[in-house]
Amino acid sequence: MSLTAKLASGSHVEMTQLVMPGDGNIHGTTFGGRIMQWIDLCAAMASQRHCRMPVVTASIDRLDFLGPVRIGEMAVLHAQVNAVFGTSMEVGCEVWAENPISGERRKCCDSFLTFVALGPDGKPARAPLLLTASEEEAARATAAQERRSTRLAQRPRRQDPSAPVPGDPP
Ligand SMILES: CC(C)(COP(=O)(O)OP(=O)(O)OC[C@H]1O[C@@H](n2cnc3c(N)ncnc32)[C@H](O)[C@@H]1OP(=O)(O)O)[C@@H](O)C(=O)NCCC(=O)NCCS
Repeated sequence: MSLTAKLASGSHVEMTQLVMPGDGNIHGTTFGGRIMQWIDLCAAMASQRHCRMPVVTASIDRLDFLGPVRIGEMAVLHAQVNAVFGTSMEVGCEVWAENPISGERRKCCDSFLTFVALGPDGKPARAPLLLTASEEEAARATAAQERRSTRLAQRPRRQDPSAPVPGDPP
């Protein structure tokens, strides 16, 4: 695959879901876990659109639900790569609720996810560099770099895959 630098805007994904009763909770609004699923999917597509490689979700930052998306409304998700570090990328994803009749939109969620690009051997592989073309994109890249430092400082140590699993016979 090519490692030629690419524009951040080229990774943009807009995904729209009409919220059906099966997506809901007992409050008549969208189940939070369903929104998390859509965020992961939308952000994964943005990271793949950038690197054109298989990706896995390495982490999802704190997620705040600012307001509900009601059943019968449209959930409109926007995702775009904010920064590429090495093999990993930060993707920002916003969720908006859109009233299908009035067109009114309310912001419901903001989140940041890290995806890792995988090479043909299934191991992390370098992703193409990212080009920013506006002050806003440059500011997003700077903020992503700061978040990465915090994230990696808090990253849990990976377990030894050969370590025994609790409950396994001795
Ligand atoms: C994510 C994963 C590929 C990292 O593999 P690893 O062997 O630990 O690799 P490394 O330590 O070399 O890390 C690779 C990159 O991931 C980043 N990374 C790893 N864990 C991270 C975390 N928790 N948060 C943010 N970045 C992380 C590293 O900083 C590195 O990025 P860089 O190359 O840009 O500096 C591996 O932990 C994994 O496969 N996890 C499971 C993924 C999964 O199943 N996701 C859900 C389904 S898609």
